[in-house]
Amino acid sequence: MLLADKTAVISGAASARGIGRATAKLFAAHGARVAILDLDAEGARHAAEEMGPGHIGIGCDVADLASCRHAAEQAIGAFGKVDILINNAGISQPVKTMEITPPDWQRIVDVNMTGVLYLSQAFIPHMRARKQGSIACMSSVSAQRGGGIFGGPHYSAAKAGVLGLAKAMARELGPDGIRVNSVTPGLIQTDITGGKLTPEMRAEILKGIPLNRLGDAEDVAKIYLFLASDLSSYVTGAVIDVNGGMLIH
Ligand SMILES: NC(=O)c1ccc[n+]([C@@H]2O[C@H](COP(=O)([O-])OP(=O)(O)OC[C@H]3O[C@@H](n4cnc5c(N)ncnc54)[C@H](O)[C@@H]3O)[C@@H](O)[C@H]2O)c1
Repeated sequence: MLLADKTAVISGAASARGIGRATAKLFAAHGARVAILDLDAEGARHAAEEMGPGHIGIGCDVADLASCRHAAEQAIGAFGKVDILINNAGISQPVKTMEITPPDWQRIVDVNMTGVLYLSQAFIPHMRARKQGSIACMSSVSAQRGGGIFGGPHYSAAKAGVLGLAKAMARELGPDGIRVNSVTPGLIQTDITGGKLTPEMRAEILKGIPLNRLGDAEDVAKIYLFLASDLSSYVTGAVIDVNGGMLIH
């Protein structure tokens, strides 16, 4: 039990096959009480109910600061304290540079990058007051190699921004006992691909993955668990690849 007596908030954790949901389940199995935050408020409540008593689901749009503050109040109010924040929510859009419209750009950046700032801002005062906390942020291999497979250039840009933001927060918040790290997954089998992964594409992608399989949500959940727990007590500002060797650098 790596998270006994801990409380965790995980954004984007309602979707059934998603990384956030797998993380919520793994954290709960390790003794944490979990608050599931999601744009899909009903889905968040349902997911929390399914995990059993002690967990809560809260509707939250990470791209909206007021919504993040409201969710933080609810989570801190329900648990009395929050030890762990997982900035996991994100959206993708498989388009090319010239196809990106101003609203597309804005929404992709707002959810994937600004959302990390807003939700962190909502919890930092609480973590600072307690002189402890672990924040993990979702980036992507797309940020590192200039495009994943399903994200457009705006997605790569937003996920790259997350890396800079998380590193800067790690430097600033370290003296307050708050650790901030990032994860950079490769292709993980969730619903974010919107059913667009054909068998041909899959076979082609596998050629570039030394471990010869796509990732599962649990592969990423286990890295979030490491970053959330005291196993990583001296780790901050780090970026952990979870990509089966798709990018080795
Ligand atoms: N699946 C992959 O291959 C992969 C690879 C690298 C990074 N990622 C990132 O992992 C994270 C989780 O994605 P996933 O693959 O589990 O997809 P998913 O679609 O299953 O989960 C994303 C969740 O985020 C929620 N969400 C969307 N917009 C939101 C908002 N504004 N506020 C709050 N919640 C919101 C959705 O409702 C959904 O529950 C995302 O940030 C994604 O960019 C995924």
